[in-house]
Order: sequence, then C-alpha cells, then structure tokens
Amino acid sequence: MLNKIGLIGGGNIGGVLAQELTRRRLSKSVGLMDIKGPDLAKGKCLDIAEGTPLIGSDIECEGSKGYEVLAGAEIVINTAGVPRTKRPDGSIPTREELLATNLKITDQVADGIRQNCPDAIVISVANPLDAIVYRLYQNLQPPKSRLLGMAGALDSSRYRYFVAKAAGVSVENVEAMVLGGHGDTMVPIRSCCRIAGMPVEKFVGAEELQAIESRTRKAGGEVVGLLGVGSAFVSPALSALEMVEAIVFDKKKIIPCCVLLEGEYGVDGLFVGVPALLGSAGVEKILEVEMTDVEQEGFNRSVAAVQSTVDEVSALS
Ligand code: LAC
Repeated sequence: MLNKIGLIGGGNIGGVLAQELTRRRLSKSVGLMDIKGPDLAKGKCLDIAEGTPLIGSDIECEGSKGYEVLAGAEIVINTAGVPRTKRPDGSIPTREELLATNLKITDQVADGIRQNCPDAIVISVANPLDAIVYRLYQNLQPPKSRLLGMAGALDSSRYRYFVAKAAGVSVENVEAMVLGGHGDTMVPIRSCCRIAGMPVEKFVGAEELQAIESRTRKAGGEVVGLLGVGSAFVSPALSALEMVEAIVFDKKKIIPCCVLLEGEYGVDGLFVGVPALLGSAGVEKILEVEMTDVEQEGFNRSVAAVQSTVDEVSALS
C-alpha cells in the first residue's frame, strides 16, 4: 500500500478517481486538488469521507484548493483542464482544439508537482493527451519511466467492448490494443485482437470489424455528443486505475500507454501510445508489436498527427 496518491483536478474524472481510490484502498490517503471555488475539492472529499463508514474504508480523502495537498504523493494523476463539450450548433470539437486553454493549466500543474511531489510517478489524462504529456515532460524533465499518459487503456477498452457485443461473448474474453495518438487517427490493431486466444476474425466479419474500428476512433466524441455537456469520465477513470493498480501491485502488466519513444517504432522524442510494461518503477519496458502494413501506415499517420499538435505546443509557448 502506498502512502498517498495525488489527484489534480476535481471534475468528473477526478471525482470518480477519488471515490474509487478510497474504496479500493490502494494508498493510505488520497489528496485531491482543484482551484475551483468555493472549495470544490474539499467538498468532494468530505462527501466521499462521510460515506467511508458505509464501505468500511479508513482511507483519508483530503481536498484542497492548493497543491500542498499533493505533498508526499508517490503517484499523481493529472486530470486538470477543460473537457470537450458539445457546441450549441451540435458540433463536437476535437481534443486538439483544447490545446491553448489546457496548456496554460498544464504549466501550473507542472509547478505544483515540482514543488510538492517531484519524485512522483505522473499519469496524465488531460487532453489533447499526447501533447499535454509532452508539455509535462518539457517542464518536469522526469526520468522517462515516471511520466506516462492514459489513453490506450481507454481506447482498447472501448474496442474490446464493441468486439464483445458483436461476437456475443464476455468482455473478459476479448484482448485488444489501440495504439498511436489519442485522437481520431488512433489505430486499433486488429491483428492483435483475440477472443479467448482465437483471432477475432473467427467471430466477427471484416465489414463489421471495420465499422467497430471506426466507431472506436470516434468513441470519445460519441459520448460527448450524447452527454451534451462534458465528456466521458467513468471509463477514463477506470482506465487510469488499471495503470495505477499495475504500478501499486508491481504487476508487470502490459497496457497501451502514452510513453516517450526514443527510437522504438522509428520514433524519437515524442510521446505516443504503445504497449508498455508497468510495475513499481512505472514504465519498466516498452514493447514493439508487429503490425500489418496497413496498421503500420495508420500508426505512422497517427504519429504525424501527434507531431503536428506538439509543434503547436512550441508555437504557443
Ligand atoms: C475520451 C476523452 C476522455 O476519449 O479523451 O473520452
């Protein structure tokens, strides 16, 4: 059990994270920070704490408007930033359109981490995912094992869910990976998708698989459109928790994560979603999967899209 897990951002994802961390008892305390007033983080934590007798949890859940609440955290999850939300005309912004606003917030986040828990493993969830992780890296310069982004776990979970429904099998039977950037160019790797160890094509036809993969690429937007306000938050929080549990329990679990590539996949100096082995040290290994030519082309296109958002980071700085 860790001493503390810190959460930056007390919005919908941060709220589910605080609640789940208190229930799962992964650390003795949870520190939630949000600048929004009158004191959103304190209110959320008090609400959760007052329910702890009902779930038998003695985990301390502390909220604050200040970053000091993160002091001593061994893992920090960053959800700070505005989410995508449906426009009045019904259109849905891309994640990349959040960049200018969320970059400024990210710079404050980096200062808060540096001052209060500089050695924490940082898992970032804010969008545009890959570019925000890159910005945190620029500001914090941490060892590459200690900074990663949550996207692949969520995109893969969505792909697995859609495949399970189409095949008429349990979601537990479906193994799948979505790699590349966390944008509409993400790449569901069909050649790695298995149902109880068997190739997915044995259960689902090519046309339906193509439709599923296209739905997966736009799945975040689908939820934004349905909610009307804000974006998905339960599945993103659960995805970050899969990564946290892999680290806390030193599971050596392979999960697609946004990590710094230094030559792997022919990419150098960019954070992109690829399978990573997570254990107590954070990112302990990056795995290179074989892709078909079509998947590789899709991956290259996705890397180019991440690069162009990262170029905007420099332009906006
Ligand atoms: C999504 C957001 C969280 O994909 O990026 O739903």
